[in-house]
Amino acid sequence: MIQDRTQQHARLSCRAVRPARILPGLVEDVQQGLLEPPRSLSPKYFYDERGSQLFDAICDTPEYYVTRTEDALLLGCAADLIEGLRPAHIIEFGSGASRKTRHLFDQCATAGNTAVYWPFDVCEEMLLHSGRHLLHRYDWLQVNALVGDYLAGLRHLPRPGGQCLYLFLGGTIGNFLPEEALAFLREVRSGMGPGDRLLLGADRVKAPEILHAAYNDRAGITAEFNLNLLQVLNRELEADFDPDAFRHEAIYNLDASRIEMYLVSRRDQAVALARLDKVLKLESGERILTEISRKFTPGSLTDLLTAAGFAVERHFQPDNGFFSLMLAAPAE
Ligand code: SAH
Ligand code: TRP
Repeated sequence: MIQDRTQQHARLSCRAVRPARILPGLVEDVQQGLLEPPRSLSPKYFYDERGSQLFDAICDTPEYYVTRTEDALLLGCAADLIEGLRPAHIIEFGSGASRKTRHLFDQCATAGNTAVYWPFDVCEEMLLHSGRHLLHRYDWLQVNALVGDYLAGLRHLPRPGGQCLYLFLGGTIGNFLPEEALAFLREVRSGMGPGDRLLLGADRVKAPEILHAAYNDRAGITAEFNLNLLQVLNRELEADFDPDAFRHEAIYNLDASRIEMYLVSRRDQAVALARLDKVLKLESGERILTEISRKFTPGSLTDLLTAAGFAVERHFQPDNGFFSLMLAAPAE
């Protein structure tokens, strides 16, 4: 079902999750999404080693309130969650650096609840790096890292016995289109037992200036993250994108309640995609959509969870209503 990749340490394993469905690879995605307008690319290609490091740096920018807000919420609700659920397993989708999750491990330590951690991410380097960090910090923790694409289905996820707490943090649910978010949460739901819970973090609708600033930090790290996608394409497709010929653009689309991130061509240009034997012609000002980030209200988030077969048990939010953490149980 899953193959062992590394066994670097008795308490850290890293295995690939076999996809339940075959998804298009980068070549097909580029053929379908990039060559013809409206041009777009899947955000999962952001997260090579460099991209994951840049994302981590975005989380520390003063404008990106998301990480700090969710971090404080997790710190505040960790005791409630861990004492209330006493999970045997903590399974996190898109775990990245697993920084915020440490509040839950701290609480596990306090409560003597030795949960096993299953971080699931596309970026293997990040999984190993953060896994080693966690082992060092928690001498009791078992980390079973899972490398894979969570959009390729969850049927082959290991199903350990005992109570599971699933985490999907960072507002990543907002990076999915509405139908993708619903399908994903339904898949999560279908693998859950009655005692399992999902903790879902989602960013909230707020003043457009605050949202705009969060995705256009002054230090330009978000821009660098966006432009790094071109380096991924250069490497994987033997392409010759010149990052200086593009600029980062992130706008808040009020009607759709979502941030839209683009790479905008600064001039008329032709980019060779050697592996596809194709040339991509772009006009000055032409845009490639690289990411959406949807913003929710408590109502729209509850509706999404309800439609996916969950019942919301708890809602944690800060006084300013910037972010929501919802604890959801499988509905009867
Ligand atoms: N949870 C962290 C990271 C969020 S960034 C936080 O809240 O800060 C999104 C994470 O999801 C990245 O670590 C990225 O590598 C991962 N990711 C993106 N698309 C993915 C996919 N299709 N399958 C699995 N992981 C994915
Ligand atoms: N889940 C994060 C969000 O939507 C991802 C993210 C933050 C992001 N900043 C970004 C993705 C910049 C691409 C570019 O807030």
